[in-house]
Formats: sequence, structure tokens, C-alpha cells
Amino acid sequence: MHRILSSIIILSSFLITFSGNIRHVISTNSSEQPVIDVSPFIRIYKDGRVERLLDTLVVPPSFDPKTNVESKDTLYSPEHHLYVRLYLPKATHQNQKLPLLVYFHGGAFLIGNASNPAIHGFLNLLVSEAKIIAVSVDYRLAPEHPVPAAYNDSWTALKWVASHVNRKGPEDWLNRHADFQRVFLCGDSAGANIAHQMALKHGHHQEKLEGVNTFRGMILCHPYFWGNHSIPGETKLYESNRAWGALLWKVACPSSSGVDDPWMNPAKDPNLGGLGSTRVQVFVSEKDYLRERGWYYGQKLRESGWSGDMEVVEYKGEGHVFHLANLTSKHSVDLRHRIVSFINH
Ligand SMILES: *[C@@H]1O[C@H](CO)[C@@H](O)[C@H](O)[C@H]1NC(C)=O
Ligand SMILES: *[C@@H]1O[C@H](CO)[C@@H](O)[C@H](O)[C@H]1NC(C)=O
Ligand SMILES: *[C@@H]1O[C@H](CO)[C@@H](O)[C@H](O)[C@H]1NC(C)=O
Ligand SMILES: *[C@@H]1O[C@H](CO)[C@@H](O)[C@H](O)[C@H]1NC(C)=O
Ligand SMILES: *[C@@H]1O[C@H](CO)[C@@H](O)[C@H](O)[C@H]1NC(C)=O
Repeated sequence: MHRILSSIIILSSFLITFSGNIRHVISTNSSEQPVIDVSPFIRIYKDGRVERLLDTLVVPPSFDPKTNVESKDTLYSPEHHLYVRLYLPKATHQNQKLPLLVYFHGGAFLIGNASNPAIHGFLNLLVSEAKIIAVSVDYRLAPEHPVPAAYNDSWTALKWVASHVNRKGPEDWLNRHADFQRVFLCGDSAGANIAHQMALKHGHHQEKLEGVNTFRGMILCHPYFWGNHSIPGETKLYESNRAWGALLWKVACPSSSGVDDPWMNPAKDPNLGGLGSTRVQVFVSEKDYLRERGWYYGQKLRESGWSGDMEVVEYKGEGHVFHLANLTSKHSVDLRHRIVSFINH
């Protein structure tokens, strides 16, 4: 059964223009000028220096008294020195089992961190509102570590999570409280792209996540997908971002054939119908240049033969990842409310 829930029309004055301020310049290779400039994400200089342009703020794990949620960091990949941040409502009883949400942050595969304050604030709220346990994955970034490093690390993190199925894993919170019958994936932007790849991989059992059934659900917030040709609805905005979009992906994944690579354009993926998630929820925003790609993903998934339930929810007047920019705005609260209903369906 497929279900597409169309637009939620609530006007909002709050708006982030994502595409408006974007420049794409491939400049000269003098020592001061960047060789590659994909603002607002990164600039790369001749000597190999990488400058990350958006906020690189991080906050430590903590007890958050407002939401009554505890968090802590723990290594999942000693090899690459990578950690996950775990979230648990403090009021959880001794052996109470909670739905488990695995979260992947965004940033075009180039920037971002699981310790980012916006992601941290969002997960504190979501964990408390949905009464879940969450695992937020820090993964290696391009261009130092080109895609598929992010996919590989994310899969390693999922295998680490699944190592708790027998209740004898390294992390007590997961041993005690994770319900492996109710595992959800969630991500924003490039993190949503990663979540999708993880669900595909799990669905095709290329490599098993021992003891974990098909994911109960997958939540994609403003998924970062692209393509070499415009799709219905994409007009001027696509054309004006086309070259920039291709460059952005090239910087993240130089070995890729381009933006029609199934990693960037799921419509080109012959395996789409095997997606290993029972249900899918996609959020898009009217003013986001990725809006049409989110709707298109929903359409292509429906046409692929995949047999799950899906909804696409659109917010009018909003931009890319608006729900992280202001956690208390009306639409942000509504978006979390919809995720809570989706999880506790
Ligand atoms: C880059 O520098 C090299 C010499 O170091 C020069 O030959 C080449 O023309 C420069 N390319 C650009 C685009 O300026
Ligand atoms: C994320 O931030 C932490 C803390 O500053 C840092 O140790 C870690 O390397 C960062 N992750 C990435 C992928 O850069
Ligand atoms: C990612 O995993 C594949 C398959 O295991 C491997 O061939 C590749 O070298 C890995 N790449 C990175 C960057 O980790
Ligand atoms: C993208 O499309 C253009 C024509 O619209 C074509 O010339 C180009 O080769 C395509 N690139 C890739 C990587 O498919
Ligand atoms: C966030 O949204 C709330 C509620 O709409 C509003 O009162 C507040 O000013 C907003 N904060 C920012 C930083 O825009």
C-alpha cells in the first residue's frame, strides 16, 4: 500500500534562503585563491588546505535538564577514531525497551559533525518527545575522505549497533533499552542520502546486520539527491544550481561518474525496489532547491515495486533544514510531531 500525503499548507515568514547566496567559482591556482570554491560549504586551496565555511561548532554530550535526556559519546570505529553520540530519556526504567533511531547528520558529505549544537538540540527534543533511544553517527568527511567513506563508516556504525542484539554488546544503554524490532533510520540532507543507502544495503542483504529485521521506518529530512537532467517542477532554480550541484558532488566523490550515479540519483538505481524499510517519511520545503528531488524520490520509490507505506510532507515558506535552524518554530515543532507519530504508529 502506498500513500502520499501531500502538502501541508501553513504559511510562515521564516525562511532560509539556501540557494540564494551560493557562489560557484573555480578560480586560479595562486597560493591565496582557492582552487575549488563550493561556498557555502568549503574552499580547497592549492596546497591542499581545506577551509570549512559553515559553523564548525561542537557541544559535548550532557544531561539536558530541559528535555530530561542524557547523552554520551562512545567509539564505534577505533580504526578511524569515530564515535557515535547516544541519547536516552533519563526516566527510562531499568530494562524498558524503546524504539531505536539511528541518525546521520547532513552537510553535503563535506561538513557537519554529530556534536553540532543544532543536531544535538534536535535529538534531545526528538528523543524526549518520541520516547526513543537514539544513536547519532559521526562519519568521515570529504574531500579528505571521499564518498563512500561516509557510507562505509555509517554501515560500520550500524554493525556496531547490531552487535548489541544479543544484549552483550559494549554499550549498556543499547543492551538494556534498544528494541531491535523497531529500528528507524533518520537523516537530514546528505544524512538522508546516507540513511537511504543504508536501507538499500540492508534490504539487499549484501552484508547482513545480524538480528535486525527490515528497518521499521526511514525518515528523510530534505534529502540531498540530484541528477544530470531537470525533473518536472525543477526549472530555473535547477538550471542555476546545476553546475554547482555537479561540482559539489564531484568534490565529495571524485571517483563518481557524475550526478546520475545512483548514489546521488536514486531514480537511476535498478535496486530501488529492494529498499529495506517498511515505511518511509520524506520531508520537503517549498523554498529548498532540493524540494522537487524529495517529491521525485517518493514517486520513483512508489514506481519501483517497493511495497511499503510512504508519505511526503511539504512545508510552505520554509527552506533547507529549517527544522534545525529554529527548534521552536511552529513548523519545526510540527515536523517533530509528525516524526513522533510515524515512529509510534
Ligand atoms: C596553475 O599553475 C600552473 C603553474 O604552477 C600554471 O601552469 C597553470 O596555468 C595555472 N592554472 C591556472 C588555472 O591558473
Ligand atoms: C567532530 O567533532 C569532534 C569534536 O571536535 C572531533 O573530534 C571529530 O573529529 C569531528 N568529526 C569529524 C568527522 O570531523
Ligand atoms: C569502502 O568499502 C568498500 C567495500 O568494503 C571498500 O572497497 C572501499 O575501499 C572502502 N572505502 C573507504 C574510503 O573506506
Ligand atoms: C549530462 O547531460 C549533458 C547533456 O544534457 C551531457 O552532455 C553530459 O554528458 C551528461 N553528463 C553525465 C555525467 O551524464
Ligand atoms: C524561533 O521561532 C520562535 C517561534 O516562532 C520565535 O519566537 C523565535 O524568534 C525564533 N527564533 C529565531 C532565532 O528566529
